[in-house]
This record gives sequence, C-alpha cells and structure tokens, in this order.
Amino acid sequence: MNILIINGPNLNLLGRREPDIYGNKTFTEYLEDLRKQFPDEHIDYFQSNYEGDIIERLHKADGIYNGIILNAAAYTHTSVAIADAIAGISIPVIEVHISNIFKRESFRHQSFIAPHCKGSISGFGLDSYRLALLSFIH
Ligand code: DQA
Repeated sequence: MNILIINGPNLNLLGRREPDIYGNKTFTEYLEDLRKQFPDEHIDYFQSNYEGDIIERLHKADGIYNGIILNAAAYTHTSVAIADAIAGISIPVIEVHISNIFKRESFRHQSFIAPHCKGSISGFGLDSYRLALLSFIH
C-alpha cells in the first residue's frame, strides 16, 4: 500500500516536547521502526507547522495514496479549512492522536476533522500511527 503520514504543528518537536504526554522518541526514530515493521508498505511522511501547507499536501495526495494517516495536532480543534480539504479529496483519512484528547482540556475534545475521516485513533502513544496503518492494511 501507498500510505502518507501527515503531522501538523509542533510534532517536529517530538522527543523533547512535553515528554510526559508525548514520550521521548523523535518521529524520525519512530518512522524508521514503523517502516522496518512493514517492509511491504510504502510510507511517505510530511510534517508542517503551517495550515496551508497541510492543505496543499492533502490536495496533492489525492489519487496517489491509498490512505492518509493525519495527526493535525492543534489544527484538529480549530481548522475548518483542513476539515474541508479532507472532505474535498477522495482518499480515506484516519485521524490519529498520540495522547487521549478526551482525557485532556475540554478544548481538545472537539475535532473539526473527525466527521470527514474514516475513523479516529487517540491515546495509544506513537502506536496510534501503527494501529491506523493496520486498519488500512486490513
Ligand atoms: C495531539 C493532541 C492535540 O490536542 C495537540 O494540540 C497536539 C498533539 C496528539 O497527538 O496527542 O499537538 O494531536
């Protein structure tokens, strides 16, 4: 399968950002492990701190990938524009979060993107990405 992982703002800081919530591993380290675990799958990766870049990447991905695993980070809770971009493309998107957004502040309980996604996975640490990938494979 051809899968694209998109990470939103501040996820470039994984490994040193609030490690009690997000853990000690960088996403680069995690991605290396994930690719080793799934050698038959092609996994591309994109991270941006900018809403427009994420939207552009979603548009460009249409028709190229079998699925997108998206951690829109804080934009999850604010971005009608990213929600519209997901609604506007034809490939399935799975929403992921490292932390359990429902256990945290109430502003994190709302996801603008969830209604346009195939499903949402939240709270399994970095393993949330592997679970999303398994869902696409199955
Ligand atoms: C996050 C949860 C969001 O609320 C937060 O803004 C993030 C990361 C997560 O992966 O747990 O940046 O998406």
